[in-house]
Amino acid sequence: MTPTDLFDPGHYSEVRKPLLEASTLPPWCYTDPLFYQREIEAIFSKGWCFVGREDELPNAGDYLTYDGVPGPIIVIRSESGEIKAFFNSCRHRGTRLLSGKGSTRQIVCPYHSWVYSCDGELHRAPGMEDTLHFEKATQHLLRVKLEQWAGFLFIRYTKTGPSLNDWLGNMPEFFAGHTPDNLRCVRRKSFEVQCNWKFLIENALEAYHTGSVHRTTLGRQQSDPIPTDGEWSCLRVYVAGKKTISVLSDARDSLPINADLSEEESMSTFFTNIYPCTQFVFAPDSMWWLAVQPLGPMASRLEVGSCFPADSIAHPDFQQRVQAYFRRLDTATPEDNEICEAQQGGHTVENRPQGRFSSEEQLTHTLANWVLDRVL
Ligand code: FES
Ligand SMILES: [Fe+2]
Repeated sequence: MTPTDLFDPGHYSEVRKPLLEASTLPPWCYTDPLFYQREIEAIFSKGWCFVGREDELPNAGDYLTYDGVPGPIIVIRSESGEIKAFFNSCRHRGTRLLSGKGSTRQIVCPYHSWVYSCDGELHRAPGMEDTLHFEKATQHLLRVKLEQWAGFLFIRYTKTGPSLNDWLGNMPEFFAGHTPDNLRCVRRKSFEVQCNWKFLIENALEAYHTGSVHRTTLGRQQSDPIPTDGEWSCLRVYVAGKKTISVLSDARDSLPINADLSEEESMSTFFTNIYPCTQFVFAPDSMWWLAVQPLGPMASRLEVGSCFPADSIAHPDFQQRVQAYFRRLDTATPEDNEICEAQQGGHTVENRPQGRFSSEEQLTHTLANWVLDRVL
């Protein structure tokens, strides 16, 4: 396939059909560097990417880093208390400044020791005294747009574009009963998965696989797509007779169900995708996220965060009871990752014909078309 050919809409006409007549994306969408590059430009540079929770950064100087593909980012609580995002790149010769998570009084470049405040201002640039027309005031860290909803922090690389509020559409209203402001992140886990980012998100948007991939762990689940407004999709999953599917069925203890939820909400777990690549799962007793960062056409990082309402965390048995929730995630996540890697492996077959969808794969088909709408 030549580069011009690659984006000819004619190659994708089968994906554009209604679900039960449609075919899956052609195999090169999961392997080709040019297709991937177009996704970076058209999708990842323009959309809102979830980076973490506000409660992960309670004090001035607390920071986390985010290795988004258009550039690495520092998210830091400044002296004034505001959370800001900057490119993680020194203004001198571009060295990455911070990694991981932590707390700092100032940001010191490891290369030549330039010092920035947590507000991104350049405070000291030792050895630059003789440099002509060098003004510290203009050498601040480069700001990246950051907005939040209910403590969920998102960044956007482009200066102009829809606000986070516009992007999320009716999501804040839909989950108001889940009182997301009360959530606190208690654990994050990171995985490197050898597959294209879309395989992880597609897998997270269908319960068709649960009876086989999670046969002995989660088991078969029923699901219904929920209509949404805005750049998100939602699959409601329920298992008759079960209050929570956030723990494995052999777990003895769980945490309280949110009393603000309706009867129906309290029997449902909502698997959402905030386009392009953030899954928020709202369960009656907990919330978790899957945040996918592309590392290349055939590799991704998956960050899994676990959140609970502040009241549940204050429960004297919390540390013991939360283990059942971690066990569920630590069991199911590797099962999902392995199947996505197996799927990537099968995509090395050149000229593999496109596949077909089942009626349970509506949101997978929706994601494929969302991507094509932006890439073609
Ligand atoms: S690259 Fe940062 S001080 Fe030189
Ligand atoms: Fe799964």
